[in-house]
Amino acid sequence: MMRIRMVTVTVTVVVVVVGVLTTSATAKLHKVGGGQGWNQNVNYTQWSANQDFYVGEWLIFNFDKRYYNVLEVNKTSFDSCNDQVFMTNVTRGGRDVFELKEERPYYFLSSGGYCYHGLKLALVVQEHPLPAPVLAPALAPALAPALNASPINSLTSCPQISILSLIVVSVALMTNSIQL
Ligand SMILES: *[C@@H]1O[C@H](CO)[C@@H](O)[C@H](O)[C@H]1NC(C)=O
Ligand SMILES: *[C@@H]1O[C@H](CO)[C@@H](O)[C@H](O)[C@H]1NC(C)=O
Ligand SMILES: *[C@@H]1O[C@H](CO)[C@@H](O)[C@H](O)[C@H]1NC(C)=O
Repeated sequence: MMRIRMVTVTVTVVVVVVGVLTTSATAKLHKVGGGQGWNQNVNYTQWSANQDFYVGEWLIFNFDKRYYNVLEVNKTSFDSCNDQVFMTNVTRGGRDVFELKEERPYYFLSSGGYCYHGLKLALVVQEHPLPAPVLAPALAPALAPALNASPINSLTSCPQISILSLIVVSVALMTNSIQL
């Protein structure tokens, strides 16, 4: 009875710690175009090819709203620079953020004719790889629901994943020694 309670308490503590770690991890913000922002004479094909985009991350478009805007469009409109049929108007004040919520390709362009001069961006968002394999087999069933419920997708850096695996492994060891 006592033993079961201790294990339960330990697992609960871990779940809480894991929850805090994952929710406090700030989602990555991609600054579109780097220092040049959302502007003419930037090769956005090159820019997007040099980084990975994961679900739950954000884009920030910095631009002069007197000239440019940001519209999310579909592939057809992207290819033809059609600014009439758009999916989302991202434009607000010129420092505008956009959350990459789904695992799919995203397409953006600026109207005003600038799309024809290269002010367009295509990128592919991937699901973030889960740190699932680090779970000890005995603990996996107990922790799986909690891990699924927490925003594990927002994990952006390796140190956090390492801390996570360290905690999970040490708890697995603790649990084993209690049961022995
Ligand atoms: C942009 O960069 C890509 C990849 O490096 C290249 O294939 C393409 O020709 C460039 N576009 C322009 C307009 O320079
Ligand atoms: C994009 O939207 C237009 C207008 O709604 C539609 O005709 C076209 O088939 C769409 N293209 C894709 C690739 O979904
Ligand atoms: C997009 O939204 C901005 C700000 O609300 C607005 O000024 C602009 O006219 C909109 N653009 C389009 C194409 O609807």
